[in-house]
Amino acid sequence: MTFFIAIDGPAASGKGTLARRLAAHYGIAHLDTGLTYRAVGHALLQAGLPLDNDALAAEAAQNIDLSALDRDILAAHEYGEAASRVAVMPAVRRILVDKQRAFAARPPGAVLDGRDIGTVVLPSAPVKLYVTASPQTRARRRSDEIAGKLGRSDYETILADIERRDARDMSREDSPLRPAPDAHLIETTDMDIEAAFRAALAFVEKARAAGAL
Ligand code: DC
Repeated sequence: MTFFIAIDGPAASGKGTLARRLAAHYGIAHLDTGLTYRAVGHALLQAGLPLDNDALAAEAAQNIDLSALDRDILAAHEYGEAASRVAVMPAVRRILVDKQRAFAARPPGAVLDGRDIGTVVLPSAPVKLYVTASPQTRARRRSDEIAGKLGRSDYETILADIERRDARDMSREDSPLRPAPDAHLIETTDMDIEAAFRAALAFVEKARAAGAL
């Protein structure tokens, strides 16, 4: 049986770290679906193309190879912003969702994290987690992470950016960010990553004990 775990949540909620740890714990693959949208933004920007042309973005999406996503390059701030803009386009979403489903279908299974995994990509996943934290907490974490790397960061700019991205991701017509009705909520504002991982593991183990996976 293929083993799926669907994880959704807003930017900097900690969902990526949880997804990576769960995948390592169970020995299954992991796909950060945000990288697929970032790769489309990156391809358009690299080619000097506009970010608001559906046909060009769909063509770029078609050419994305999920086995060649480079997190070190795609993590840059400008590609996150570009990703959020192309992610409103239904044609782009259809193409990337097909690729994401094909990735997940390979045995023994996978953990996918993003914005619409439990609602659209893998609606029948036996375990769905929705990871969140206050915008201030998420901005603080992102700011500390950047300061650790660059020696400086601007909390206010990061907070404004997170709030703008939340608004765009939650209000778009196609596949807005929201918890699936059967998702388990993990609110990490007052939790460290260990506590969040234990909470996630407990939900997965409960589903396993019930024979759901
Ligand atoms: O998680 P991230 O910051 O890498 O995501 C970048 C953007 O991609 C995010 O603002 C919205 C979009 N995205 C999406 O629409 N659906 C997903 N499953 C993952 C990301």
